[in-house]
Amino acid sequence: MNLVIIGTGYVGLTTGVGYATLGHQVACVDVDQSKVVSLDMGKVPFFEPGLQAALKDAQEAGKILFTTDLASVIGGADVIMIAVGTPSKGTGEADLSYVETAAEQIGAMLDHEAIIVMKSTVPVGTNRKVLKVIRDSMSLVGRKDLTSLINIISLPEFLREGSALSDFLKPDRIVIGSEDEIAAQTISRMHEKIEAPRVFTGLESAELIKYAANAFLATKISFINEIANLADRVGGDVRDVAEGIGLDRRIGPHFLQAGIGYGGSCFPKDVSALEQIAGNNGYGFKLLSSVIEVNNQQRTLFFNRIKKQLGPLKGRRVAVWGLAFKPNTDDIRESAAIDIAQRLLAHGAEVCAYDPEAIENAKRVLPDSVEFAPTAIDAATGAEALVVLTEWSEFLNVSFDTLKARMIGTQIFDGRNCLVNENLERLGFIYHGVGVCR
Ligand SMILES: NC(=O)c1ccc[n+]([C@@H]2O[C@H](COP(=O)([O-])OP(=O)(O)OC[C@H]3O[C@@H](n4cnc5c(N)ncnc54)[C@H](O)[C@@H]3O)[C@@H](O)[C@H]2O)c1
Repeated sequence: MNLVIIGTGYVGLTTGVGYATLGHQVACVDVDQSKVVSLDMGKVPFFEPGLQAALKDAQEAGKILFTTDLASVIGGADVIMIAVGTPSKGTGEADLSYVETAAEQIGAMLDHEAIIVMKSTVPVGTNRKVLKVIRDSMSLVGRKDLTSLINIISLPEFLREGSALSDFLKPDRIVIGSEDEIAAQTISRMHEKIEAPRVFTGLESAELIKYAANAFLATKISFINEIANLADRVGGDVRDVAEGIGLDRRIGPHFLQAGIGYGGSCFPKDVSALEQIAGNNGYGFKLLSSVIEVNNQQRTLFFNRIKKQLGPLKGRRVAVWGLAFKPNTDDIRESAAIDIAQRLLAHGAEVCAYDPEAIENAKRVLPDSVEFAPTAIDAATGAEALVVLTEWSEFLNVSFDTLKARMIGTQIFDGRNCLVNENLERLGFIYHGVGVCR
């Protein structure tokens, strides 16, 4: 099939490359000229394991192209996907301006039967509105007769940055929200090479599924963080508790790692958006409000602990390991790590940071006073304390003997509970985890 994907970010690019890998003909459109130029040369403008190689294969097979010019590619499209950003407004509500612009552009240019697919995460009711915007725009340019041939499908994306391409190719399920049976079946067939259960729903249910999935996972994280905070007060080790409950198949082991809380481009904005959707419809979603509050509190509790242990931070050299919002990505959007680094700086600490992939992005948001080191050990050299904020696996393989020799101080604050505290304590470090008994 001929696919046009509008928006070539983490989702648009991954899905574009994914569909090209499945054999579809894909045109990716983005307003960001530099991104398009870079992609055209086969260079993925962000870090995502496996994506660069898959893009190269797709380009060599002639299955994918990149352009800023929607009009030049919309003509032959069977399916037009919207994968633009839906960031949070200050109020927590999703900003739909990019989606609306994309819809208006489609409506102004579309002159044949096509299925519109919504990949962006959008509030309940948006797909219906977008279809209306497209049909109205078509009518305005004299194509009213074609409007009944245009349908919309809500096809929420569940990929995780860091394993995005494999998540696309091997999803747990494909949710297809539609009001048109034929369009839904066409979109299902578009994925025929993917073995995964199909969940056929109406538009509103599909929209809700995406938010509910993220909100549930965020709830698990805040729940285990509350248990960790309790363990800090009553004794016990949250890692053992997580294992003990996670082996219960009704609970499952995922998203039970206590720490400084969730971040990233999805969870914070999607949880807030769902809370807003509920509020706008006269329902106070109390559980979600608490999930958000607990998540915000985790960073403060962790930072307060650093302050309490180290005393005044002014002029103190602190090493930071990890800036990305999670490992295997260079994405720092809503990163708890960036937030903690900023708090350290605001209290006068001298921060030397290392992240395997996110340094370039971090440089754009952190002040010039931050030093960036080429390795984890270099970042910690001469530091009074080490603060671990992203659980990159390479941190586990550092030589902790060397670390001990290079650091001035002995305090390690592990905001992700990812280091093995017994080993560190044997070497003479003082380890502080989140809900980890000492
Ligand atoms: N990042 C994730 O892990 C993830 C996972 C699932 C769902 N989502 C959802 O997918 C959507 C996209 O997320 P993302 O992280 O890829 O965003 P992103 O910000 O990385 O990318 C969006 C892209 O859209 C482009 N764009 C905006 N308006 C455009 C227009 N009119 N025409 C062409 N291009 C346009 C931007 O230039 C940008 O490159 C969001 O709704 C997000 O919530 C994201």
